[in-house]
Amino acid sequence: MKTKHTTHKTLFHSWAMMAVAALTLFLGAAGNSWAQKAEGLALTPPMGWNSWNKFACEIDERLIRETADAMVKSGMKDAGYQYVNIDDCWQGQRDAEGNIQPDAKRFPSGIKALADYVHGKGLKLGIYSDAGDATCGGRPGSRGHEYQDALVYARWGIDYVKYDWCNTPGMSAEPAYTTMRDAIAKTGRPMVFSICEWGMSKPWEWAGKVGHLWRTTPDIYNCFDCQFNPGFSTGLGVLRILDKHADANLRNFAGPGHWNDMDMLEVGNGMSEDEDRAHLSIWAMLASPLILGNDLRSMSESTRRILTNPGVIAVNQDKLGVQALRVLVDGPLEFYAKPLEGGDWALMFLNRSNQPADVHHDWKKQVLGDDLSKRSVDFKQVVYRWSDLWSKKTGDTSGKLEARLAPHSVLMLRLTGPAKP
Ligand code: GLA
Repeated sequence: MKTKHTTHKTLFHSWAMMAVAALTLFLGAAGNSWAQKAEGLALTPPMGWNSWNKFACEIDERLIRETADAMVKSGMKDAGYQYVNIDDCWQGQRDAEGNIQPDAKRFPSGIKALADYVHGKGLKLGIYSDAGDATCGGRPGSRGHEYQDALVYARWGIDYVKYDWCNTPGMSAEPAYTTMRDAIAKTGRPMVFSICEWGMSKPWEWAGKVGHLWRTTPDIYNCFDCQFNPGFSTGLGVLRILDKHADANLRNFAGPGHWNDMDMLEVGNGMSEDEDRAHLSIWAMLASPLILGNDLRSMSESTRRILTNPGVIAVNQDKLGVQALRVLVDGPLEFYAKPLEGGDWALMFLNRSNQPADVHHDWKKQVLGDDLSKRSVDFKQVVYRWSDLWSKKTGDTSGKLEARLAPHSVLMLRLTGPAKP
């Protein structure tokens, strides 16, 4: 009797265990299908264009179409630029069911038609929203509508969502961005998720599982070495953004599928050519997304050439995905190194000063090493060939490197090797 009773109990126990296990498995599987960011996207830093830096709220569907045309015609698409991103101010009001609608005057054909047009060019379309009640430009935000908005974006054929942080008092970034990540995942459409909370909650510490890129600083300001602070909004010039990255050791957090975003580029918006080259080189070395911020329809030939430099883009898009290390600071001269796939290195000498500066670099004096990627080169043992990615000059590491750098300029090299000395 006792034995029988025990057997029943045991049987019941194992059934219960199996049911619990099945339920856990089911919930786990269901959980997995919606609680993750899209994997396999942004394995190298995203490349594209965004409307904000040049046009702010002055945007419409014609600008977006013409930008897509120009991206193809100018050779930018062939160079790797892919996303055409509409920033703030595309939104109208929500309809009676709460669905977000585009501003009917500026986007009369609707976003789906625009996505079809952009896709027809072999490009991808990005859109913008905000975690709070309103965007920074005062349009409806996604707070309380996250799942609805993500579904609308998916139906329109959106490929990239930038999600801002204005008007969020009392909210915490990590749960707010996680909600939107889950909402996007639930749609089943892979969309790059771009976190834009200006580095306030140290997103590099939590956002690797939530988004594909996260802004690390306040907005970029169109200057090389300055800062702009009207009221609460700060704008940082190129060098100020660089310093935030090099100092905070943010490189430990970046890699394929999860990048520090130094903000959209200002190349072609009025800095000197040397500054523009330096700006692009810095973004490339630090594995930042390369999101253009100029008017592609009317850019000069020199801007086009700078932005499509294949060697510089290849450094940015290197599959190893390691952000450059600041190796040396010598007055206004700085020296950065980025290990590349297959044993190559990218090196950058930066002259921060508004006076010329001379580089006298003795390769053999110091072992070039990076603890993060566990790579090192001793130039006493091996010789690398180098090519200057801007001037196209070539040389090797058997002798010294001597160069004069113009104010606010860089010398950017790709080292290939090694060969025995
Ligand atoms: C914030 C973002 C910018 C831009 C504007 C739009 O400032 O950081 O990149 O999206 O909002 O209003």
